[in-house]
Amino acid sequence: MFERLREVWRRSSTAGEAYPAELAFMLRNPLRRLILSPRGMVRRLDPAPTDRVLEVGPGPGYFSLELAQAVPRGMLLLMDLQPAMLAKARTRLSRARARNVRYQAADARALPYAEASIDLALLVAVLGEVPDKKAALAELYRVVRPGGRLNLTEQPGDADFISLAEITALAEQAGFQATRHWGGRSNYSAEFRRP
Ligand SMILES: C[S@@+](CC[C@H](N)C(=O)[O-])C[C@H]1O[C@@H](n2cnc3c(N)ncnc32)[C@H](O)[C@@H]1O
Repeated sequence: MFERLREVWRRSSTAGEAYPAELAFMLRNPLRRLILSPRGMVRRLDPAPTDRVLEVGPGPGYFSLELAQAVPRGMLLLMDLQPAMLAKARTRLSRARARNVRYQAADARALPYAEASIDLALLVAVLGEVPDKKAALAELYRVVRPGGRLNLTEQPGDADFISLAEITALAEQAGFQATRHWGGRSNYSAEFRRP
């Protein structure tokens, strides 16, 4: 039991490892609103009601319900490496009767979506956990439609935190154009557009 707990804690604090589903409750901490609330996130994303939105690595869905509600005539695709995380997100969104949501367990380095099929993609505190960030960004570039947007958000207290300069360089190498960003050095959202 103690060994198991130690292993979970090690994974949560080691850069490059997926955040353990056993600690999903910490991602649902209401105090996160002080950093960025789900509504604040939706304001930054500003989706059209018909948008097809892809959230990669939603974990237990801290931002997902408000996102689904913001695209009532569109679709929210939730894709996470860990089926246990997706199960938690599904329980939460189903209870709230969010019907415009699809769930898929997969790896960001091989997205199971067609080329140019996404209007808006977002990752909150996820990219740092992906071992091959270039491959993930190449995949995001492939699935986001021309003119579509990518939002990369990083938050404090994350062992895998990536700086705005580094994330911008990575996204631009993949072909995205930086458009705007919000927040400060340790807590920001950066928006990119596929030309
Ligand atoms: C720190 S949690 C953040 C969860 C959520 N975005 C939030 O802010 O509450 C990172 C999430 O990314 C997922 N993840 C890590 N690597 C991934 C990969 N290669 N592909 C898809 N999801 C991944 C993890 O399973 C985990 O749910």
